[in-house]
Amino acid sequence: MNKKPTQARDLFASKFGVIAAAAGSAVGLGNIWKFPYITGVYGGGAFLFVYLGFIALIGLPVMLSEFSIGRRARSNAFGAFKKLAPGSPWKFVGMLGVAAAFMILAFYGVVAGWSIDYVIKALSNSFASKSPGELETMFVNFTELPLTPVLYQLFFMILTMAIVIVGVKDGIEKYAKFLMPLLVLIIIVLGLRAVTLEGASEGLKFLFYPDFSKLTAEGVLSALGHAFFSLSLGMGTLITYGSYVSDKNNLTKTAVQVTIADTIIAILAGIAIFPAVFAFGIEPDKGAGLVFITLPNVFQQMPGGYFFSILFFLLLTVAALTSSISILEVVVAYFKEELKIKRRTATIISTVLISIVGLFCSLSMGILGEYKFFNLNFFDLLDWISANMLLPLGGLFISLFVGWYLGKDKIQEELSKGSVVIKPVLTVFIFLVRFIAPVAIAIVFLNGIEVLNFG
Ligand code: PHE
Repeated sequence: MNKKPTQARDLFASKFGVIAAAAGSAVGLGNIWKFPYITGVYGGGAFLFVYLGFIALIGLPVMLSEFSIGRRARSNAFGAFKKLAPGSPWKFVGMLGVAAAFMILAFYGVVAGWSIDYVIKALSNSFASKSPGELETMFVNFTELPLTPVLYQLFFMILTMAIVIVGVKDGIEKYAKFLMPLLVLIIIVLGLRAVTLEGASEGLKFLFYPDFSKLTAEGVLSALGHAFFSLSLGMGTLITYGSYVSDKNNLTKTAVQVTIADTIIAILAGIAIFPAVFAFGIEPDKGAGLVFITLPNVFQQMPGGYFFSILFFLLLTVAALTSSISILEVVVAYFKEELKIKRRTATIISTVLISIVGLFCSLSMGILGEYKFFNLNFFDLLDWISANMLLPLGGLFISLFVGWYLGKDKIQEELSKGSVVIKPVLTVFIFLVRFIAPVAIAIVFLNGIEVLNFG
């Protein structure tokens, strides 16, 4: 390998570090903020059912594909395709990924900023003795402000930048290993409290009982988009992280563990939230504010609620941080390796550019709210385009690339590193990335887009 000192690539230090960092990327606002609210919007159990199907049949194989591409190429999302498929247009898949990273981090930083503000609200006991209606007003009034949310968002972006500047290994790996288990613990405690509320069974029924009459084509597309979003797939995040994984790691096992962790945490978040939603008579299709309105309600009702509310929003912020780092790293690794600039400069430039786009996302909740595109404000537009279009498209190309371009032999070689490849597992994997994933993504995607045109 031609390693120049300034271009030397970091490697994750330990196996657990890889899982913690990748799970840290996967587990984030997508699980705790977005999953419950879109499950609410698209009708509950049936949406969950379709989502789980997509996770197993498409998400897991695409995750393994990304890890394999990354480790094999030892390069950023764009450079990886350039290296593995020289002189071909495949590199544009990497470009698409970098663009998606830009859009996602722009609105992600806004929501992470809200959670920082909610840490402070929790600390100052601001939820105490407020009615559900008052808590809703508090949230809406806050997000519509022109300045405060922007400052929190900036603060969060600076935090992200500070860690990425240091490098992947010394920052995230260390924090993720300690903070992720803590997050799980808190969600379990909150879930236990929520299911013991009076009227909780309604919420559990809403989450787990599939009523397929409620499912729409747009709901199915959103389930697919969210499977990609939640597992951090389709834009090269796990290609980038995979490029830092040592040859001693078993990629298949890592992908399975990360997928299971991400799914369990999303479901736990649902269990913590829906029973409370129904117990307090709040509509489950509240949208983006769900977690910021309902959870404070739960905290008010539980012993030690003051303490848990602080802990929850703190951990929400941290979960967001371990994800935002992975998103920024996609852009930074690209700038650093393709434009041959230093990590420091690359990190600062990307943070500034993304924060500027993020500023408009934040303002679109309030003073710029009247500017709508396809009936969505700028924040929702970026969310929609990136999650429901760019990520599934990226996933489509990634699975085609691994299934048809790289092919079975090279994949077998990659998956054999650090493990023994079990033949049927390889056969199923290749079948999924060759046929099932691309066809399913194409069908869902085209249907979803068509619905939009007519709706
Ligand atoms: N998976 C993260 C979450 O659920 C978000 C994310 C999307 C991270 C895409 C990286 C890439 O919050």
